[in-house]
Amino acid sequence: MKVITSLGDFPAARGALTSPVGFVPTMGYLHEGHLSLARMARESCAAVIASIFVNPTQFAPTEDLAAYPRDLDRDLELLEAEGVDLVLAPSDNGALYPPGYDTWVDVAGLTHRLEGASRPTHFRGVATVVAKLFNIVQPQHAYFGQKDAQQALVIRRLIRDLNFPIALHLGPTIREADGLAMSSRNAYLTPEQRGAAPILRRCLDHVERLYAEGERDGDVLRRAMGEILDAEPLALPDYISVADLESLEEIASVTGKALVSLAVRVGKTRLIDNTILPPGSGLF
Ligand code: PAF
Repeated sequence: MKVITSLGDFPAARGALTSPVGFVPTMGYLHEGHLSLARMARESCAAVIASIFVNPTQFAPTEDLAAYPRDLDRDLELLEAEGVDLVLAPSDNGALYPPGYDTWVDVAGLTHRLEGASRPTHFRGVATVVAKLFNIVQPQHAYFGQKDAQQALVIRRLIRDLNFPIALHLGPTIREADGLAMSSRNAYLTPEQRGAAPILRRCLDHVERLYAEGERDGDVLRRAMGEILDAEPLALPDYISVADLESLEEIASVTGKALVSLAVRVGKTRLIDNTILPPGSGLF
């Protein structure tokens, strides 16, 4: 596995790989969710490239950029064990954002709701860095996780609207044994908070049960999640949503596919999770 830390060295390493190339972009501190995406890429592509870059532009000034967990050596070991061929791990932010950097990719509409309503500049940062990475890496396939469902929808729109010749693939949310969705941010949780964190999955399980019993009313489903969260003093909801899968607008009644999602603060850590109705449906 080759590791490139300087953008100038990347084209030669990329040029040595056989197509089709699969790309797994990450911010590092890898867990089974990332590794499952690398495995998906390995199964269907001739070569696999991963990137490790904690992208500053997707963090608001009030967010956890400096504290974001990092362990490059461990990440590289894990990627090597998955058979990844090439890793792009820029050693400083200036490589991607040189002084005076002022070009942004803004996917309108979709990005103003849910995560975007709570974190107004987040998706501009994500779309910008992903577009830059697509240009640098030039993959034929790209792999993202369903845990960040809105991000995946934004990337799908970005690929379509900017004509990137890239097939987008979605990996399932990978969970701990107690249902907590794997996330690099889980590392921030104290043992007590970690004990409370599976409440997100419990909310989604409950909505899936209600749906199976025939409940279709959006308010009833949203309220049901709110009631579960109210009973957990360590969990502070940011949003609770049952939204149309295309527009991400809140829906009155579930008639087609719907994205059920929630963001909850457990202590200082903001956790997100989601499921698609009808249960078992794909996001795309
Ligand atoms: O999902 C992530 O880890 C990040 O948002 C991504 C796609 C690597 C862009 O920085």
